[in-house]
Amino acid sequence: MMASIDTMIERAREVMAYAYAPYSKFQVAACILGDNGQFYTGVNVENASYGLTLCAEAVAQVNMVADGCHKINSIVVMCNTNELCSPCGACRQRLHEFSSEKTMVHLCSQQALIKSITLDELLPLAFKFKP
Ligand code: THU
Repeated sequence: MMASIDTMIERAREVMAYAYAPYSKFQVAACILGDNGQFYTGVNVENASYGLTLCAEAVAQVNMVADGCHKINSIVVMCNTNELCSPCGACRQRLHEFSSEKTMVHLCSQQALIKSITLDELLPLAFKFKP
């Protein structure tokens, strides 16, 4: 399992340069390990109309779903600073859609893994809707 964290960190580092963040200059990269064993990366994509900005986690998740995978084993979130990057509130709910009680979130700085926590710990009492 440690090997997969290392791979996720490596993949996030690789795509960090592709983050499109000309407004905030805050680059974020994410890498999801799906329950199918595949890795899916994402970067933040900003827009001149600021509110249209996509978070890195959202982009990684879209890549996962578009590949037919509906379950997140774990996700690395990394920013281009020395501090850990923690998913925004909206992304916690977004990730919850495809998470399980075991889904791990690895919070990283550019240099290192700082904290590992479950998504359920990050988002207690997540909104659930059963049609
Ligand atoms: N951002 C992410 O990509 N993920 C988060 O969880 C928090 C924020 C991005 C959005 C925006 O491009 C930049 O960070 C500054 O808010």
